[in-house]
Amino acid sequence: MTTLKINGEDKTFDAPDDMPLLWALRDVLGMTGTKFGCGIAQCGACTVHIDGVATRSCVTPLSLAAGKQITTIEGLAQNGNLHPVQKAWLEHDVPQCGYCQSGMIMAVAALLKEKPKPSDADIDSAITNICRCGTFQQVRAAIHAAASA
Ligand code: FES
Ligand code: FES
Repeated sequence: MTTLKINGEDKTFDAPDDMPLLWALRDVLGMTGTKFGCGIAQCGACTVHIDGVATRSCVTPLSLAAGKQITTIEGLAQNGNLHPVQKAWLEHDVPQCGYCQSGMIMAVAALLKEKPKPSDADIDSAITNICRCGTFQQVRAAIHAAASA
């Protein structure tokens, strides 16, 4: 049995230690807000926070996630209030198809925690998520808006 602390709640389930965290989230726990894109740590669609660090869950085995604080897109809003990044995303109409966006938002939320006023260079080096719809300029504007909120 594996126990993970996800969005502040303990979740216990039966799965092998080498199962990727993304598989457990989506297929075992039914938490489908975190997306599968490439499966090889390239696209960022599967990004969650592990102990506050943006992490690609498709290549993170359960053995590395156990005992840590995991936050998924489902847990980013607090007490019914959207996270500032989520608010900026709505205000700037960032999502197009939306597929990449939960991972993008999680990556940006982690960046702003570490660097509350990121420069364009900080954004370019930290946000390497891929968006097939090409929302990158809206993403940049929304990050600066969230940083100023
Ligand atoms: S699905 Fe994990 S980085 Fe693409
Ligand atoms: S909004 Fe469609 S892939 Fe990013």
